[in-house]
Amino acid sequence: MTAEVDARSARRARTLSLRHLPGLMREPLETFERLGSEASGEIVRVNLGVSRPYLVTRPEHVQRVLRDNAENYPREGMMWKPLTRLVGGIAGEGPEWALNRGIFQRLMSGPNIASVTGEMARTIAEAVDELTGRLAGRPGDSQAEMTRIVQRAIIRVFFGNRISLDEADHLADAIRTATRSIGFRMLMPFVPLSVPLPGDRAFQAAVRSVDEVIFPLVEEARRGELAERDIVSMLIETRDEQGRRLNDQQVRDGVVAMFTAGTETTATALTWLWVVLKEHPAVADKVYAEIDAVLGQDRPDRTHLPRLQYTKMVIQELLRMYSVGWIIPRTSVDDDVIDGVRIKGGSTIVISPYLTHRVADVWPDPEVFDPDRFSPTRSKGRHRFAYMAFGAGPHQCVGTLFFTVEAHLIASTLLQGFRPVVQNESPVRPQVRLTLIPRERVDIVLNPASHR
Ligand code: HEM
Repeated sequence: MTAEVDARSARRARTLSLRHLPGLMREPLETFERLGSEASGEIVRVNLGVSRPYLVTRPEHVQRVLRDNAENYPREGMMWKPLTRLVGGIAGEGPEWALNRGIFQRLMSGPNIASVTGEMARTIAEAVDELTGRLAGRPGDSQAEMTRIVQRAIIRVFFGNRISLDEADHLADAIRTATRSIGFRMLMPFVPLSVPLPGDRAFQAAVRSVDEVIFPLVEEARRGELAERDIVSMLIETRDEQGRRLNDQQVRDGVVAMFTAGTETTATALTWLWVVLKEHPAVADKVYAEIDAVLGQDRPDRTHLPRLQYTKMVIQELLRMYSVGWIIPRTSVDDDVIDGVRIKGGSTIVISPYLTHRVADVWPDPEVFDPDRFSPTRSKGRHRFAYMAFGAGPHQCVGTLFFTVEAHLIASTLLQGFRPVVQNESPVRPQVRLTLIPRERVDIVLNPASHR
């Protein structure tokens, strides 16, 4: 039976009421969570007056939107527009997206990553040495410090030596401002761009700053020798299906996309790691013991990574609870039916790993931090779309392997000699921006491992 025939007999989604709109402005994450628990796995519409987006949380339903009928649910709509202005075609759909995705997939393939892991490990070791020397017992802002390490690794691997650390800092600041100021647009994708929202002006200014750093870099790279295998060279050499080279704007977009998608996500995940290790000392002890046993006195490299199994489970569980990529909005083109519920064409569809990871019959006791959920035995039989930290379907994250290698190298290099101890006295709560970041600044002190 086609969706069209089905649609006539399908039931309407239950509607949750308008009273949530002020809450979304005031306490975005709490209100969003409340909506998720009121929906309790059912497909619902959220009546916000101006718009009535569908909220889709159960794995089977998410599978229909993100994979089985993905052509009907493109990434259009207003939230993607500002993001496209920052990172270009990869945030969209169609031929421009496909071209970008192809480039990124090649770049992020297993053999390519394996070939750069040694260089990445050396850069991370240098960055960690620099950090431990600089902090030397003083507290430091975890997010800023993790960002610095992540950026150094990304810069070396993707940009060769084209970009100075100063330029990289400037670029990173601008990208951070842009991604921080986009939260309201993501929560309220139905608000037209002509209606100003908090953060809009900061976003525009930040995008201009990004351009000021990247365009000269692209021009310089075009003039120079392209001997280095960095992403700028790859992008410059890339041709589209008609054999045309990318223009400066497309090269700039590729660079910024990589930087944006790869920096804040990874740095935020690492900051959450220090938070969960503080909150769960028994988990922390198992992580430390595993790293000591696997590494001994060796500097971490790719031969160690497959043996850091418990650390891997801890990172998986922290991305379940603190889903850094917390929202995946889509737009429906035609009417569809999901599990007997009619989805009207032309609507906003909100998918949220953060909420799917809290559907109670899929993830029992969802608020309990329990890395053993990811043991091979307990993972058996779990729906493929139950865990969506990296999205799913044609747009699934292309950087998953890169993230895994990078995050494990950074965590194990730091933990081999030090214990990053979070100084915040009260529990650290999350807040929504482009990624799910800590609401308060997280300060860490690096204690020598022997003093724990
Ligand atoms: C904790 C780390 C990360 C998380 C949680 C994460 C999460 C996600 C999610 C949920 C999506 C899907 C978006 C959608 O369906 O609309 C995505 C897409 C993407 N990610 Fe990641 N990501 C991470 C790290 C990275 C890294 C390190 C890179 C690159 C170096 C990267 C590059 C990308 C790109 C280019 C896309 C767009 C793919 C497409 O639309 O075809 N990500 N990521």
